[in-house]
Amino acid sequence: MHLHKYEKIWLAFGIGSLILFLVIVGINAFVTGHQPPSSDKTVDPQVVGEIAPFNKPGLKKIGKNEYQLVVLTSAFSFDVGTQDKVVEIPKGAKVHIIATTKDVVHGFEIAGTNANMMLEPGHISETTQTFREEGEFTLLCNEYCGSGHHLMHAKIKVVD
Ligand code: CUA
Repeated sequence: MHLHKYEKIWLAFGIGSLILFLVIVGINAFVTGHQPPSSDKTVDPQVVGEIAPFNKPGLKKIGKNEYQLVVLTSAFSFDVGTQDKVVEIPKGAKVHIIATTKDVVHGFEIAGTNANMMLEPGHISETTQTFREEGEFTLLCNEYCGSGHHLMHAKIKVVD
């Protein structure tokens, strides 16, 4: 009789541990599997070029020394709103960068800064960067995206 009772307790303990384990694994999978790189906002990549703010890429002043930089990428270019792919940013400006891709996965790295994100079709990536020093920074794609990958870059010019 006593043995039977202990067996039940151990069985309950075993099943309980197994359930706990599955719950932890499940939560982990949910947390990591449902988190895009830097934002949970989504957008239809087919029509993103017609949707604000991506219908007008480029730099916009949104406050005192505060800007928004909208970047739309596609194979194999960064649309930063200018013909020459150069964005002029005033020294000391805080820039809220918002970017996405129309086609395949691209990288978004401003060399020499902390701005480094992955752009996935359907997802909006965001980061904030304050440009404290004058100079030229290269915006480049650091995810291999096809034959024109090495041609994919733009320039950030921080001016006084
Ligand atoms: Cu885009 Cu590599």
